Amino acid sequence: MQYEELVNPRVLDQPTYNPGKPIEQVASDRGIDLQGIVKLASNENPFGPSPKALEAAVEALQAIRLYPEGSGIRLKEKIAGVRGLDSEEIVLGNGSNEIIELLGHAFLRPGDEVVCGSLSFIVYRLVALLFGASPVEVAMPDYRHDLDGMLEAITEKTRLVFVASPNNPTGVANSSEDLIRFAKRLPQHVIFGFDEAYSEYLDNPPDLLPLIREGRKIVCMRTFSKIYGLAGLRIGYGYGSPEVAALLHRVRQPFNANSVAQAAACAALEDRDHLTRCRLANQEGMRQWEVACSNLGLPYVPSQANFILIKTGNGEGIFEALQDEGIIARSLGGSLEDYLRITIGTPEQNSLAIAKLAEVMKAEAN
Ligand SMILES: Cc1ncc(COP(=O)(O)O)c(C=O)c1O
Repeated sequence: MQYEELVNPRVLDQPTYNPGKPIEQVASDRGIDLQGIVKLASNENPFGPSPKALEAAVEALQAIRLYPEGSGIRLKEKIAGVRGLDSEEIVLGNGSNEIIELLGHAFLRPGDEVVCGSLSFIVYRLVALLFGASPVEVAMPDYRHDLDGMLEAITEKTRLVFVASPNNPTGVANSSEDLIRFAKRLPQHVIFGFDEAYSEYLDNPPDLLPLIREGRKIVCMRTFSKIYGLAGLRIGYGYGSPEVAALLHRVRQPFNANSVAQAAACAALEDRDHLTRCRLANQEGMRQWEVACSNLGLPYVPSQANFILIKTGNGEGIFEALQDEGIIARSLGGSLEDYLRITIGTPEQNSLAIAKLAEVMKAEAN
């Protein structure tokens, strides 16, 4: 018997997430020195984590023969203290991606529907399909979640609705007022997955905690992969009512958050100065890119996150040409095939990438 006959047929239809090529492969494929590669592809923090987080990670390595603290209580208490949450409201994840998957495990059955934006984070769609549910993608004509359109798309079959704000890959945020109004209008049979992966880049991030405490069905998700600079350690968390958190704990693996990540995340949360510096540097880098786009005559989507969507035309071709020059960006395909998404880098990385983009655009025009 072949694996193909044995496999759950849904697996054969399941699309895979394409993370793009790692730096090492681009360097060896193109014969470029590793140090010469600038990766602005995955919305990582170009300044890296707080030195205190690195120190805590190194210290935690001394004890890696032991399993992590299974309930993650130290990190949960730290998060609770910083965010004004209770530990019982928190679930740690192997990245916030895992929280999205846990929502699928806990709430999706074949035939259910998952409402999300048409230009939003691909994992919502992947998780819906994984559990046999149908993704219902609502158009985003101005690159922002159309919250009224999402409400209209909800049916009796809808179990989950996902909104990222700021959204990836467009970078556009919905206002706090609109998000709160949306959450209040959701019917009782729908759980709102509110993805706050980039919320630390906002000056005034929305706060849905009062709605959670009022009993609304909301699970917010945060990550240490973006502004905290710990993407490689895979750590994030979800928070909602103690009742929903307990359900998500049932469907997670034991020890899903590793000990090094937990220690680093605790220390990262303590370094508020690093966070502020990174947020301000990102704002300056964003201005660098906005000015460059205007100078190059390239339209862009004004972003409130740490990346920018630029209309270059022929996104895949420009992506490849930039990669030949040692700059890794992200092409998106589909209805965004004319766009390139670029993570805001350090000032030096931005200058280099802007110069290379200018060269590539000139060559493309000839
Ligand atoms: C909107 C959004 N949510 C979640 C994630 C996943 O982050 P994590 O590294 O915590 O799994 C990403 C990563 O790119 C993202 O863009």
